[in-house]
Amino acid sequence: MSDSHSDALVFFGATGDLAHKKIFPALQALLKRGRFDAPVIGIARGAWSLEQLRARAHDSLIQHGGVDAAAFEKLSGLLRYVGGDYTDPATFAALRKELNGAQRPAHYLAIPPALFGTVVEQLEKSGCAQGARVIVEKPFGNDLASAQKLSQTLQRVFSESRIFRIDHYLGKRPVNNVVVFRFANAFMEPFWNRNYIDSMQITMAEDFGVQGRGAFYDQTGTIRDVIQNHLFQVLSNLAMEPPVRTDSESIRDEKVKVLKAIPPLEAQHLVRGQFRGYRQEKGVAPASQMETFAALRLEVDSWRWKGVPFYIRAGKDLPVTCTEVLARFRKPPSVIPEYALFRNHLRFRISPEMTIAVGTTVMGADEMMNGRSSQGEHVEMVASRHPRPEEMEAYERVLGDAMLGDATSFARQDYVEEAWRIVDPVLKAGTPIYEYDKGTWGPSEVDRRVSPPVGWHNPAARDEEDFRIASSTV
Ligand code: BG6
Repeated sequence: MSDSHSDALVFFGATGDLAHKKIFPALQALLKRGRFDAPVIGIARGAWSLEQLRARAHDSLIQHGGVDAAAFEKLSGLLRYVGGDYTDPATFAALRKELNGAQRPAHYLAIPPALFGTVVEQLEKSGCAQGARVIVEKPFGNDLASAQKLSQTLQRVFSESRIFRIDHYLGKRPVNNVVVFRFANAFMEPFWNRNYIDSMQITMAEDFGVQGRGAFYDQTGTIRDVIQNHLFQVLSNLAMEPPVRTDSESIRDEKVKVLKAIPPLEAQHLVRGQFRGYRQEKGVAPASQMETFAALRLEVDSWRWKGVPFYIRAGKDLPVTCTEVLARFRKPPSVIPEYALFRNHLRFRISPEMTIAVGTTVMGADEMMNGRSSQGEHVEMVASRHPRPEEMEAYERVLGDAMLGDATSFARQDYVEEAWRIVDPVLKAGTPIYEYDKGTWGPSEVDRRVSPPVGWHNPAARDEEDFRIASSTV
């Protein structure tokens, strides 16, 4: 273990949902890969035994990815449990004892943000915050003011460089590949700007609803849940300038600059939708005005992008589950009059597969006397890859990086605040909500008000794994 590596992981909320779904599987994967070897201390309010926590970890692995006997045995050996109230100093005295002299623990707060203040204060008083890092999960506040308050709470005890804010999209390989593809390929730079790109669109579609999270979702909605964080990260990767160095701050500086160039979202450039039946979900208010879908248009007023609209669309209960980016090019001048001119596009698929596809026009299949075909044909050159079983999951990557102290894949506070600045006014404006049927691409109002120049591209359910040329209708 290097000097910067955390020498213990403490996770608050050890008996909760996030630990079950994400943290145990990520820990097992880190152990299997040899990226981790430190005590893991779970904390929660319940008076659990260590055996109960081990059983919970086992159950989590069965349900989320499978048990690896050797790695699980290792995890079981590293696990500790501290039960008690977060307001009680005795809980933190017990934690200190379990830390057993660790110099650089990482405290992962997998608990509701309302409890952060109490926990952080107790960590400081008990001496457990010394030399430590803190890891927190989105949502980072509910608006700009609450995000600032949350940050102040954390920064009272932890300096910014020791705060790791997880946005798991930053742990996704295809999201990072957008940056690599842009800056590792010389042919990209000349056209990746306002001179050639006509519009950009990002779609994050999910073919399921709120999955029992009605109470959370009704306080949150699509913009706060996935747009202000996950999709703004995708947008930043698409629009950022090359960093001058590869250290975490140089990279994060460039991402913040993208958001700084975006004026606040205007109500006229937003359509919010709600799927029919949402109000009958458990935990949802009977007259809820919360959105389960949003389509919006932003401007990035930078030298590179001024005048190019960026469209974002996300929603629950849409026809497919897929996140995809489509950059549409300007139309070429017409030198072959009979050819239908298509706009070229570049398509980045983020999930479920990682795809890069280029939409082009080629000579059609029919033969004419002059050696040409009568019309052009639109084809897409596709390079697509399904995730390999040995590839890291987003949570493994970010948790491993936080333990290592590499901040690149975490949201910095200035970034979080810029992101809120963009959506805050319109969230408070209470714009109308339009219903849509489950399994459709959202309310029809979207096509009237927030539609890219040649319309939305609706992603298909799957890209086949291939390197090929396939026809396309985009
Ligand atoms: C979470 C949201 O942050 O991201 C969920 O709270 C959403 O509503 C999820 O379903 C999507 O993540 P992924 O990795 O499945 O695309």
